[in-house]
Amino acid sequence: MTTSNNSGRQSATAFAPASVGNVAVGFDVLGLSVQAIGDRVTARRTVEPGVRIAAITGAVLDLPLAAERNTAGRAVMSIVEEIKPGFGIELTIDKGIPLGSGLGGSAASAVAAVVAANALLPQSLTQLALLKHAMHGEAVASGSVHVDNIAPSLFGGLVLTVGVDNPNVKQIPMPPGVHCVLVHPHMVLATKDARKILKPDVSLSDVIWQTANLAGFLAGCFTNDLRLIGESLNDVIIEPQRRVLIPGFDAVKQAAMAAGALGCSISGAGPTVFAWLPTEKAERARDGMVAAFRAAGLESDAWISSLEAHGARVID
Ligand code: HSE
Repeated sequence: MTTSNNSGRQSATAFAPASVGNVAVGFDVLGLSVQAIGDRVTARRTVEPGVRIAAITGAVLDLPLAAERNTAGRAVMSIVEEIKPGFGIELTIDKGIPLGSGLGGSAASAVAAVVAANALLPQSLTQLALLKHAMHGEAVASGSVHVDNIAPSLFGGLVLTVGVDNPNVKQIPMPPGVHCVLVHPHMVLATKDARKILKPDVSLSDVIWQTANLAGFLAGCFTNDLRLIGESLNDVIIEPQRRVLIPGFDAVKQAAMAAGALGCSISGAGPTVFAWLPTEKAERARDGMVAAFRAAGLESDAWISSLEAHGARVID
């Protein structure tokens, strides 16, 4: 389904927020948008057909300029191939999200690109159609199709996605009085590498435990039950395998939990670590987590983000 757009628009800039993939208990299916940082993409109509990347600026410069190898370029190529709008699209990408940080940078570029490109089309695409096009871009970066960064960056908030070919997207209510602390140590961890180390098999008891935790976490969010959220926000499958990739992870988590976190785990593929805390405890947790990374030899950036459901949007 499409709706009439502001046709004739020559250029549009969109912002797409960073995101926390997995949110500990929903590997590849649950994600949370983060307002503090994000990527911006400007799309311009061109007479020449096809998709071209004009420039990449900001926090990451050494990304591919060839559209088919760039997450934003590939996502917009997917739109152009399907819609055939009768004009080409040139993209300028302004990266706010560091490379290999576990904050959904490749997804945010793809999402901002499809939202900006959509504003140029005579008929707007639905959010679900934009999600599918952005997924083509994400696959270029991470070598696999996963939606836990794309969906929250596009829709906003805590987002569960069920299905890949025909994704069902659900925004999950979030408890009031809780903030998300994010601490990004200055190191790069490629998603492809963090996926390669995962064992293909999981024990039945871990599946049962993780299933209960995902269900418990979602039920806790729907019923505003902080005790249940705290019991459930615990990854028993992926975190135990990936924690060794992040120097100081155990001490960072310990600092967050000692400060009163409901839960603390790896953001996406890492190395960023996130924790959910009652608002009044967030600063203490942030300081403890930063200090723990420093003790492990890593300086870091940290953000305290409110739980808000703002997804990608056209800003200019
Ligand atoms: N769900 C993905 C992973 C997110 O953990 O590999 C990557 O950012």
